[in-house]
This record gives sequence, C-alpha cells and structure tokens, in this order.
Amino acid sequence: MQEKIKDIEKQALAAIEKAATAAALEEVRVKFLGKKSELMAVLKSLGTLSLEDRPQAGSLVNASKSIIETTIKEKMTALLQAEQAKKIEAEKIDVTLPGKGIRRGRIHPITQVMEEAKSIFLRLGYEIAEGPDIESDHYNFDGLNIPPHHPSRDMWSTLFVSDSVILRTHTSPVQVRVMEKRKPPLAIIAPGRVYRRDSDATHSPVFHQLEGFLVDKKVTFGDLKGTLTEFLRQMFGQNKKVRFRPSFFPFTEPSAEVDVECVMCSGRGCRLCKETGWLEILGSGMIDPNVFKAVGYDAEKHGGFAFGMGIERIAMLKYGIDDIRLFFENDIRFLEQF
Ligand code: FA5
Repeated sequence: MQEKIKDIEKQALAAIEKAATAAALEEVRVKFLGKKSELMAVLKSLGTLSLEDRPQAGSLVNASKSIIETTIKEKMTALLQAEQAKKIEAEKIDVTLPGKGIRRGRIHPITQVMEEAKSIFLRLGYEIAEGPDIESDHYNFDGLNIPPHHPSRDMWSTLFVSDSVILRTHTSPVQVRVMEKRKPPLAIIAPGRVYRRDSDATHSPVFHQLEGFLVDKKVTFGDLKGTLTEFLRQMFGQNKKVRFRPSFFPFTEPSAEVDVECVMCSGRGCRLCKETGWLEILGSGMIDPNVFKAVGYDAEKHGGFAFGMGIERIAMLKYGIDDIRLFFENDIRFLEQF
C-alpha cells in the first residue's frame, strides 16, 4: 500500500509539473484529489486493513494528499501570476505616446458670411423677419407687381410644387408678408434659402439671399446707396472695387444692381465673370408704388427701398473662390480652410 501511495504521489507531482495553465492544473486536482480519485479510493479502503496497520497507512495517505494539495496551490499561484503578467503586458498602454487629435468642426463659410451680413444690418437698426421656403405664387410674384403670365416671371427659373405653389425664387416675398401685417416705419432683413433651375460656376439651384427693405415717410435713392455702400465697406473693406449699375425689377423703380470686381481676374475679364470683370452680388431699388398699393399702404405718403443679395456670391468674393459648387460638395479639405 505504501508503494501505491508513493506512486500516486509521484504521478500527481509529475502531472502538476506538466500543467501549463490554471485550467489544466484544475483538471489535475480533480484527477488526483477528487472524490473519484485513486487516493480517495485508497482512503476509503483503509477500513479493510488491520487495526495496527490502519493508523500508519492513514497518515501516509494524508501526508501525500497534503503534499499534492500544497504543490497544486503553489503552482496555481505561480500560473495565475504568470497569466496576469501576460495580460498586463498585452494590454500595456504607452502613456508617453501622443494622443489622437480631436478634429473640431467649423462653421460653414456660407453661414459665416450670412451671420456677418446680418450683424452689419442689425447694427444699422434692422430687425429680422422670416418667410416660408415653399411659397405661393401670390407672394413670390403677384404681390411683387408680377401678374400671372407676365414675361418678367421668366427672370426667375422657377421650380414648381403645383400650379400655384413653388419653391421661392427669392426672399422678396417676405417684403409682402411683413408689409401686409405691419405699418411703417419698417427696417427689416429677411435671410433665407431660395431655389432656381440654375447651375454653373456662379449659379447654384439652392442658394441663400439676404433681403432688406426700409419703408418710411421720406426715403430717397441716396438712402439706398448710402446704406449699401456702408454695408459693402464693412463686408469687403475699402479696397474692393464696387459699382452700381442701372437695372430692372418689376417691384422696384428705379432699380440698380451692385457688382464687385471679379475675384479671378481682378477686373481684367475672364470665364468666371463672362469677360465683364465684375460679379453681380445684389439687386436693389426704390419700392414700386404698385407693391405698396397691394398691401394697402398709401404710396403717396410712403417711400422705401429694398435689396436682395446673394450670400454665396459675397462668400466667393470674400474668400477668392472661383466655383460656387464648392460650397455644397462638403469636401472637408475645402471646408477646413475657413
Ligand atoms: C432678385 O432675386 C431680387 N429679388 C433682388 C431684389 C430684391 C431686387 C429687392 C430689388 C429689390 P436676382 O435674381 O438678381 O434678384 O438675384 C439677386 C442676387 O442673388 C444676385 O445678384 C446674385 O448675387 C444672387 N443669385 C441669383 N441667382 C443665383 C444663383 N443661381 N446662385 C447663386 N446666387 C444667385
């Protein structure tokens, strides 16, 4: 029996030595110390021994059991420590490595220019009004002295929702909406998105306008020119060349457009400015008496001016951009420059 116990102990110690993982070691423990192990069988068979032999055999089994238990315990501690060390090594973080930079978003250049334009007029005492993008042809045309079937409707390549509902082609309908509800004096700006069947380097199918209008008792073309000149000076500084050019709009009389020296050719003439040396940024004029009449104002007692500027065109001139489509492509490399 003594030999048998020693043999089991030897086998157990060899198996412990061989176990390379905590799980393998646990298997060894079950095999050599579990209920169904050989050592337990020996322990159970002690009853068959004579009374003299029993104590010695008993203490032999217990001694072996204790040696196996202690060895397993020590090996288990060593294995767990080794596994832990391996895990720490695998998950090691080098805190001296430079961190990943956070890419911060920026305000879109069109929003930047729109905000700047708005703040110039707010400083001049204007207040902000808004109107819907989906507009009736009444506000977009009729109320602005452009009756149905009048050829001047062709000035705007309109996108239709139905026969009488359209995507607004300009921000001028806000003039009619505000004047219908309120009495003069008024100094209003109306920023917003507008839509046209247009697309090339200086025309986008969706773009932004800032409408402005002022109505009071006595308003002159000099007031319009002075206001726009001050706006242009604040927006572009003193050095950009600008010009007022006579024009036509059904809702203003007289009318003028404002051009700024072309960004690409500095006025020499190129493809972008269609060889004119100028880029048009806004339309303006003195509000036509028919517009006043349509909203119930006394055209004899009131005068007013209005203007509508293209925000993308201003941004092109300010930042030297030669294609309006760049604003809408959302190329990070382009947007990051602003
Ligand atoms: C108008 O839209 C008039 N409502 C402006 C106005 C308001 C005149 C009040 C008188 C009184 P026009 O179609 O010219 O006008 O457009 C005004 C400006 O919008 C242009 O000068 C130009 O800067 C810009 N613009 C016009 N079409 C486009 C387009 N497709 N893409 C980008 N900008 C455009």
